[in-house]
Amino acid sequence: MVNLDGKTVILTGASSGIGAALAVALSQRAARLTLAARRLERLRAVAQKCSGEVCVLSADLTREDDRKQVVGQTLDRWGRVDILVNNAGLGIYGDFLSASEADWRRIFEVNLFAMVFMTREVLPHMQSQGSGIVVNMASIGGLIAHSDKVTPYAASKHAVVGFSRGLAKDLAGTPVRVLAVCPHLTDTEFFTASPGAQEMAPVIEPYRSFMDSPEDVARGILDQLDSERLIVFPTAKPAKAFEKQRDI
Ligand SMILES: NC(=O)c1ccc[n+]([C@@H]2O[C@H](COP(=O)([O-])OP(=O)(O)OC[C@H]3O[C@@H](n4cnc5c(N)ncnc54)[C@H](OP(=O)(O)O)[C@@H]3O)[C@@H](O)[C@H]2O)c1
Repeated sequence: MVNLDGKTVILTGASSGIGAALAVALSQRAARLTLAARRLERLRAVAQKCSGEVCVLSADLTREDDRKQVVGQTLDRWGRVDILVNNAGLGIYGDFLSASEADWRRIFEVNLFAMVFMTREVLPHMQSQGSGIVVNMASIGGLIAHSDKVTPYAASKHAVVGFSRGLAKDLAGTPVRVLAVCPHLTDTEFFTASPGAQEMAPVIEPYRSFMDSPEDVARGILDQLDSERLIVFPTAKPAKAFEKQRDI
């Protein structure tokens, strides 16, 4: 298990769901945290549940200035970044033809490009300090077609897995490691916040009791931070789903 005591972590999408649960779990293990998302009040509420040193920053990770501010303020305060958790993301639900070009571009901006450019911003510092872990939040939908009517989301999360694979290959033999986390359905605001949520609600509701909790997912991620494998299944459910459907 990775010792997180005093480690500096940038965690995106920390204002709700898996990110909020990760923030609390990281702080319980004495990590120093920069929490970033757009909703400052929600970030402050999460920070209140955390023990130890926490910095909250309102940031739209699709904006270059905001990304630079998150990384710059973390370095100004603590002088290093040990772990970058690229967790911010959104979904979209609906028929393929119902998603506009703007919808497609938006989901790739948030789910892929924000992650790619945050990583570009942080990686040189990890390389010069001689250690680091980049944790990219993918999804079971980044490995298999886990549902219908989620084509842009599945495409963006497959791209996250592809980005993580390529980066891991480039960084092989260096002290910076890359993980691609693939949760299954997790009980968060994701299903109400994402475009198409109204149409998705009656479809998703029967699965509510099957969903993992964000706390279980957070625990599963932290327990596997030292994984030698690229793909991390935070709980048993995505691992089982992958075994069952991997040939589809
Ligand atoms: N829930 C699931 O079933 C599930 C399954 C597999 C993977 N995932 C992935 O897990 C990650 C977290 O999702 P969640 O389930 O915890 O959903 P959530 O509760 O809706 O959290 C999404 C987070 O992303 C942030 N975010 C969205 N757009 C942003 C932007 N432009 N700039 C900065 N932050 C932004 C949101 O904060 P603000 O709105 O405050 O900006 C929020 O903190 C996502 O990448 C999601 O794809 C979720």
